[in-house]
Amino acid sequence: MVILMNNILIKKIKTKLDQSITLVGLMGSGKSSVGRLLANELDWPFIDSDAEIVTQAGLSIPEIFESKGEAYFRELERDILKNLTAQDDLRVIGTGGGAFMNDKTRDYIKDKTISVFLQAELDTLIKRVGSGAGRPLFKDQSPTVVLAELIDLRYPRYKEARILVDTKDETPQETLNRVLQALYNDLPSV
Ligand code: S3P
Repeated sequence: MVILMNNILIKKIKTKLDQSITLVGLMGSGKSSVGRLLANELDWPFIDSDAEIVTQAGLSIPEIFESKGEAYFRELERDILKNLTAQDDLRVIGTGGGAFMNDKTRDYIKDKTISVFLQAELDTLIKRVGSGAGRPLFKDQSPTVVLAELIDLRYPRYKEARILVDTKDETPQETLNRVLQALYNDLPSV
């Protein structure tokens, strides 16, 4: 039943979409996993801005933070998202959790793509990021402390996204269903 519903939604959504989709949200919100599923359903490429940064810098994200600093990382992130959002080819873009906090980066995303905020609760995020390995923001403090602070700091900004999807402690497929429904609701009816 859900599969049939999704097929109908996807068909309708695809005929109306004329912009790429960018997923924003905190670490552990499902931007990459749900983004991949969404891209697969739409038959579009999935691009992860963090992966593009790593390729361009030739360094891992912790290495960039360590050797060049966060400001350098944010500049690279801004330039890469400027470029990705300017392209006409439709794609699903997964961003790093801090991307939407940069004024310019946020403007590129909001102006050129359909921005979708995957909102998730603290407990869900904590469960998903585990020990926090590979994420430099958890280097000095526990994921629980950092994520609680980031919810206060970032959620008001993330809410500037065009679409808010209130996700639960659920599978990426279940979140995908919510995203498809939200996209459908957002698009103008013909
Ligand atoms: C960051 C999130 C990470 C990555 C970097 C900084 C952030 O991406 O860009 O470690 O500031 O929230 P994910 O949200 O994909 O983990």
